[in-house]
Amino acid sequence: MIDWYPYVRPFFMKMDPEQAHWLALLFLKTGLVLPCKSRGESLKVNLWGREFPNPLGIAAGFDKDAEVIASLFRLGFGFVEAGTVTPLPQPGNDSPRVFRDIANQSIVNRMGFPSKGLDVFVKNVQKFKKRHPHPRGILGVNIGINKEQVSPVDDYRKCMEALAPLADFVTINVSSPNTAGLRKMQEGDLLDGLLAEMRAVRKKLVLIPPPQIFLKIAPDLEPEQRIDIAEVAMKHCVDALVISNTTITRPAELKSELKEESGGLSGELLKNMSTEVIRDFYRLTHGSVPIIGVGGILSAEDAYEKIKAGASLVQIYTALPYKGLGVIPRILDGLAELLKKDGYKNISEAVGTEISIDEKKAKAGVG
Ligand code: FNR
Repeated sequence: MIDWYPYVRPFFMKMDPEQAHWLALLFLKTGLVLPCKSRGESLKVNLWGREFPNPLGIAAGFDKDAEVIASLFRLGFGFVEAGTVTPLPQPGNDSPRVFRDIANQSIVNRMGFPSKGLDVFVKNVQKFKKRHPHPRGILGVNIGINKEQVSPVDDYRKCMEALAPLADFVTINVSSPNTAGLRKMQEGDLLDGLLAEMRAVRKKLVLIPPPQIFLKIAPDLEPEQRIDIAEVAMKHCVDALVISNTTITRPAELKSELKEESGGLSGELLKNMSTEVIRDFYRLTHGSVPIIGVGGILSAEDAYEKIKAGASLVQIYTALPYKGLGVIPRILDGLAELLKKDGYKNISEAVGTEISIDEKKAKAGVG
């Protein structure tokens, strides 16, 4: 397939980032997307009794209102995470609120959960499910809270009650940096209470099969916070950790004008940081909680690095504006090649291999 993106990229890069995104969504809404061929057995992932056709997903924030799920599956994603949705509609922060660092293939955003609200989101998911009773991949939703709310747990509960019956997995987002107080939900007791409540809601709904519950965390966590989160996640049998959301740190390489902009940083400059957090959580949970690796994946090599560090599945977002839609088949084909080169028959064999090697070395007193 011809990759036309290099020709239109300069045009997109001159546009305001949010307008470019709006245009991309408009295109995807037309449904005029050529279906991507399915990949071989080596990329299939079986988790929680569900079969992912491949390990590459679209991260939350791209399809905030669940408007283009079908097109995202047609593009070749093995799973789609729509959202973040908030219970009530809200506009998010004032524009401009998305900024590019083109040289570093990175983005700073402070969107602040613009959302058409839960009612519209539910209708969109229902419409998708009616039209596509047998989707090509696994469908997840990412839930958040309104800026003006009295109880974060109530907001998460409303979203969980409405969406658990419709989704394969629900990601609890406690890590977006642009909603005051949200990241506080990552703290020990608050997280404990929130996860207990989410599990109780799921149990009450008696769904067969029940949706998996994922927890999306920030990369900006102190060692003690990481230990606490890992313990609470294991205590509540969280089905997966999504690692990571954007960072509020500002690496030295970041374009100087963007250092002053508040918001979360994604893309290339987040890559190593999120991989390090994945590695740490893989160790802290002894590989018992599957990890979805996200942050700065722009190539198959980047995706493979996250997998070897402990991720069972991966997601992208910032790669799309910088690389175009062609990045999806490139990552999938590249991953299949890398697996073959290393002698693996299936991607699951590569998960966390880097850690096991380290630990084996440590045990043997090598290195
Ligand atoms: C995001 N991200 C995000 N995450 C989330 O859980 N809910 C959201 O609504 C959003 N919104 C959002 C908007 C924009 C413009 C960007 C760039 C990112 C974070 C995203 O899902 C992902 O975790 C990070 O962007 C890191 O991955 P990439 O972009 O480096 O591949």
